[in-house]
Amino acid sequence: MCGIVGYIGNRDVVDVLLKGLTNLEYRGYDSSGIALNDEGNIKIFKALGKLGNLKGLLKEQEKNIIDPVAGIGHIRWATHGSPTEDNAHPHTCNCGKLVLVHNGIIENFKDLREELIKKGCIFKSQTDTETIAHLVAQEYDAVKDLKKAVTKAVKRLNGAYAICVMYKDEPDKIVVARKNAPLLIGIGQNEHFIASDIPAVIEYTSQVVYLDDMEVGVVKKDEFHVYDVEGNEVNKKIEKLPFEPVALSKRGYKHFMLKEIHEQPDVIRNVLNGKLYDIDEKIILNEVKIDKETLKNLQRIEIIACGTSLHAAMVGKYLIEDFCGIAVDVEASSEYIYRKTVTNEHTLVIGVSQSGETADTITAIKQAKKKGAHVLIITNRPDSAMAREADSLIPINAGIEVSVAATKSFTAQLMSFYMLAMFLAEIKGSVPKDILKELKHDIIQLPTLIDEILTHKEPIQRCARLFANTKDFIYIARGINLATAYEGALKLKEISYINATGYPAGELKHGPIAMLDESMPVLSILMEGKVYEKILSNSEEAKARNARLIALTSSQDKTLDDLFEVVLRIPKVNELLSPVLASVPLQLLAYYIAEFLGKDVDQPRNLAKSVTVE
Ligand code: G6P
Repeated sequence: MCGIVGYIGNRDVVDVLLKGLTNLEYRGYDSSGIALNDEGNIKIFKALGKLGNLKGLLKEQEKNIIDPVAGIGHIRWATHGSPTEDNAHPHTCNCGKLVLVHNGIIENFKDLREELIKKGCIFKSQTDTETIAHLVAQEYDAVKDLKKAVTKAVKRLNGAYAICVMYKDEPDKIVVARKNAPLLIGIGQNEHFIASDIPAVIEYTSQVVYLDDMEVGVVKKDEFHVYDVEGNEVNKKIEKLPFEPVALSKRGYKHFMLKEIHEQPDVIRNVLNGKLYDIDEKIILNEVKIDKETLKNLQRIEIIACGTSLHAAMVGKYLIEDFCGIAVDVEASSEYIYRKTVTNEHTLVIGVSQSGETADTITAIKQAKKKGAHVLIITNRPDSAMAREADSLIPINAGIEVSVAATKSFTAQLMSFYMLAMFLAEIKGSVPKDILKELKHDIIQLPTLIDEILTHKEPIQRCARLFANTKDFIYIARGINLATAYEGALKLKEISYINATGYPAGELKHGPIAMLDESMPVLSILMEGKVYEKILSNSEEAKARNARLIALTSSQDKTLDDLFEVVLRIPKVNELLSPVLASVPLQLLAYYIAEFLGKDVDQPRNLAKSVTVE
């Protein structure tokens, strides 16, 4: 969702801004814009739709851009006001001297807007952001200093903001501020970059400073300073970026999603690194900052997450309950925050999030913290807002994930739950050592088994072609793979826009069976183990209603080929580990169907990579 870039230095300002926005594109957006401080004039360029439109406009306007010294840019995912050019950022004030871009939502914008209109401000958009532009401009008229004006204005804002502000008469600086929305300053030689996320600056620098809530930064070409809202300078720590620029390349794959699917064997190795050394040794999880006695007596865990992370959480619940006998509740963050939860200092609350920026999950964990719970965060972004809230932090080390549809981060989250569940089981002594030893042995094989799946993609491609024009899909499973079914269906929905639903196989006959006929394919996840026969019977029930059947199975049983129209086979593995393997063909199936249908695989319509609004 929305992205911010800013630049002040000797490079081609337009080029830096456009590259930065391009690298943030994956977050999802519907309009874009930049503002330049050019030869003493503020110039704004905006376009609807994809960045290509803004690039085209800037090409046309090339002769009107002389020698900009600083610039700010934005991609907008519409919240307040539809996606239009007027609503696109940057926004400005009555006199046009001030320009501002903003991520987040200003909750009291209506009151502020009314107040500002009474004072003569003329609004050109429906956004909450324009309110901040007018507010800062009003303050500027009084204090004639951009930093002071921003500092005064932000004190009046409720909600979330990361802002970047330029003023015509102060061309040597960009002023930034944040609360509940990420913003960083990238440090270069005689140049500085500003961004809402790492990919926008990774090409230029590996040294950054993260702004904290209620801080205001003054960024110049050769220096920057950060202040609290009382105006005291804050000493900021310079941090090294966790990613390399190469993380943003497709490395020869047609889409980021396909590249990220193929990265999964390495991602698993990364998760295991430092945690699982040898099958005879205990799992090492120093990231969990709770003493052993407390862990031994832990009675209750709550896991909160959204989207794909919620599905990883469901597998986590299954594992922790199975291995440790600790009661685990899993809940969507957006539900958790609007009810009276039974959370207290004896509850361990686990927040799972690829981005670490999902607004609902951040709110949920803050609520849990207030109730005294220990908050453990499992995230791909140890530099995120959520990570900062953590009492314990497990980074999943999946590397930057660009495709909106999560794949490798899901696998890394699953692996983190295996580590956590086994770590807890070893502390509690709740699973016999030889069983854990066997499991560790099997876990170490997982990367090789995924490689095997990835080298035999043809049956999945054929299946995708066969079913690409289907309008609906049902995925059924039981037990630990129910979450796999939910996740497989979600992948298909997200990138192909086919109506796909995951169901507990046993529930098929309690409603969904009414929909079955030859137009409704049913995909059964049939892993050898406890519930194999049961799912087979449920598949028979579907067949009897003329549904077209697909099996995703670890079984070599040839009779399956009679019942199912397509049988996708994956290597045999311990049932408890099967979600890791079973997810891969489902990711590929969704990918190939979407690709076959010509969909925008990496940036599906209406979706954002990080949902930073509630
Ligand atoms: C968005 C993304 C999903 C993701 C969900 C949760 O909806 O499109 O892919 O699963 O947010 O995001 P998180 O970063 O918290 O895992």
